[in-house]
Amino acid sequence: GTLDAGSLRTPIVAVLGHVDHGKTTLLDRIRGSAVQEGEAGAITQHIGATAVPLSTISEMAGALVDPTDFDLPGLLFIDTPGHHSFSTLRSRGGALADIAVLVVDVNDGFQPQTEEAINILKRTGTPFVVAANKVDTTPGWNPQEGQPIQQSLEQQSERATSRLNENLYELIGDLSDEGFSADFYWRVQDFQSNIGVVPLSAMTGEGIPDLLTVLMGLSQRYMKEEMSVDVTGPGVGTVLEVKDEQGFGATLDVVLYDGVVREGDTVVVGGRDEPIVTEVRALLQPRPNAEIRAEKQFERVEEVRAAAGVKIAAPDLDDAMSGAPIRVVRGDDEAALETVTQEVR
Ligand code: GTP
Ligand code: NA
Ligand code: MG
Repeated sequence: GTLDAGSLRTPIVAVLGHVDHGKTTLLDRIRGSAVQEGEAGAITQHIGATAVPLSTISEMAGALVDPTDFDLPGLLFIDTPGHHSFSTLRSRGGALADIAVLVVDVNDGFQPQTEEAINILKRTGTPFVVAANKVDTTPGWNPQEGQPIQQSLEQQSERATSRLNENLYELIGDLSDEGFSADFYWRVQDFQSNIGVVPLSAMTGEGIPDLLTVLMGLSQRYMKEEMSVDVTGPGVGTVLEVKDEQGFGATLDVVLYDGVVREGDTVVVGGRDEPIVTEVRALLQPRPNAEIRAEKQFERVEEVRAAAGVKIAAPDLDDAMSGAPIRVVRGDDEAALETVTQEVR
């Protein structure tokens, strides 16, 4: 590539959609995990964050992605809950996104939280692709583990193909009713003005190579347009959760969406009554492909660059709030500290 991957911000990909349409299962398949199986009631109740490196993406995408075509270090996936009672978390996830995947169960089609997710994406102007999930549940389906969708479609009976196509055209129609021109992704030229629909199965993995290819293409373009962003500036993020951690007391699970945070940095974070000003004691980074919500073996690091999920340990975090902004104030600058504190308030 022509750009230095080390200087590029990792794009944030939010995964949105109606309850049980398969968001967490899709991420499990990509990162080789089983987070979904550990969820109480099989319901996601928090925002998650997982850094998926380019090596994992190109491995999963096989022939469809040539890693030398990309300058990006990988993608930071944000999982969101689909249950109707978590609309605040969906908005928060959507607000973090550079691009998004709207997951729709191909049999169920558009549902209330599909509509809600679309409204969030419209409001934030976030480019997205549609993952038409669960193609393997089409009657008569002949599963093709991990294969690109075109290859899988060649192995399907005429009857299964036409059943699937009926569902896919209904989905394309629903997107059109929402004002989007949508089509099968392989017919889409410009993914920012048209919505690509990727038929796939989070269960069998077929179509996931295609989804990753489309996401890489979309983020590469997006990131080139956002190149003016200073990736080495003071870190800015959103608190996902406040959690007690053995040996550290209250810590923050944060999505850092811009800049850099270092050990010893002064940070300002939104608190219950007023902004909290404190100093970073430790930065704990989840391993690649690990969901921050489920991770137990964090690695202690001196510095974290956006975009990333990171656990921040610091004194006085008991009154910090999930959803609050967190900002780094670098240097001994009283005026900057005052400005940032006003912004966080
Ligand atoms: P919430 O986070 O609670 O909104 O749900 P979700 O969208 O994350 O869905 P989840 O991953 O929990 O999946 C819901 C159910 O659908 C689980 O039983 C999955 O095993 C099943 N499922 C997900 N994807 C597929 C798929 O591609 N094919 C089949 N057959 N089942 C799937
Ligand atoms: Na679920
Ligand atoms: Mg889920």
